[in-house]
Amino acid sequence: MKTLVVAQQKGGVGKTSSIVHLAFDFLERGLRVAVIDLDTQGNASFTLHDFNSDYSASQMFDQNGDDLRKWFLDLPDGPLMRLIASDAVLANMEKRSLTDAAMVFKQNITALADSGFDVVLIDTAPALGVSLAAALYAADCVMSPIELEAYSIQGIKKMLTTIANVRKLNTKLKFLGMVASKVDARNPRHVRHQDELKAAYPQLMIPGSIGLRSSIADALASGVPVWKIKKTAARKATLEVRALAAYVYEKMEIIQ
Ligand SMILES: Nc1ncnc2c1ncn2[C@@H]1O[C@H](COP(=O)(O)OP(=O)(O)OP(=O)(O)O)[C@@H](O)[C@H]1O
Ligand SMILES: [Mg+2]
Repeated sequence: MKTLVVAQQKGGVGKTSSIVHLAFDFLERGLRVAVIDLDTQGNASFTLHDFNSDYSASQMFDQNGDDLRKWFLDLPDGPLMRLIASDAVLANMEKRSLTDAAMVFKQNITALADSGFDVVLIDTAPALGVSLAAALYAADCVMSPIELEAYSIQGIKKMLTTIANVRKLNTKLKFLGMVASKVDARNPRHVRHQDELKAAYPQLMIPGSIGLRSSIADALASGVPVWKIKKTAARKATLEVRALAAYVYEKMEIIQ
């Protein structure tokens, strides 16, 4: 089982959109997907509510994984998706010690592997808090969507430092890179920022990008991936999102 976290302390840059679309794409690839929503805003939980397991995200910080193993004991065979939804108690995790939270969260990730999931996708809040750090300590991979605006770019160094610090302890953590999201190709500022980022971080920019496309927002509001939106404009968005999913799938080296 492989675990991916989306992390970016800047809000509204496409973290949830990425996680949700990866989840739909991976399900269609025949994987057994668990999605954990560690953001109290509950956006991924809203979009993926049809897949709710009724096991809540704060329970990922409870005990040693035995409860989780029991909860997911009778999963059917074959491809499936289960949402571990955000809940109000999740806010309390920010008061826990990181050592304790990270240890327990990791035990529960192991319990998801024991339950037969192939991949765990973790959505996080736009803040460098305890729950994000706990997720990074337990994960195999991390990816950071960014918007091509000054405030988003400003935060990159902080994010890269956080990831570098976590990697001192979680040496298996692989940074898949940054993916430019909500890109408006007709906006000269976006084009300039994208060129500057490619020059500054040639190894860290994921090839391709996700355009600023209202069909993606439509999809997130309707609980479906963008390829289910019946509009001509959804086609380009579909190609971009599918290309990102194929890239992430390959880099994660998921074994079914
Ligand atoms: N490619 C896109 N084109 C147009 N709108 C988008 C795109 N991606 C996301 N959105 C919209 O932009 C908003 C922010 O996106 P999203 O929720 O994925 O970002 P986020 O990084 O998860 O935000 P937060 O930090 O608040 O959790 C949402 O309303 C979403 O519908
Ligand atoms: Mg979000």
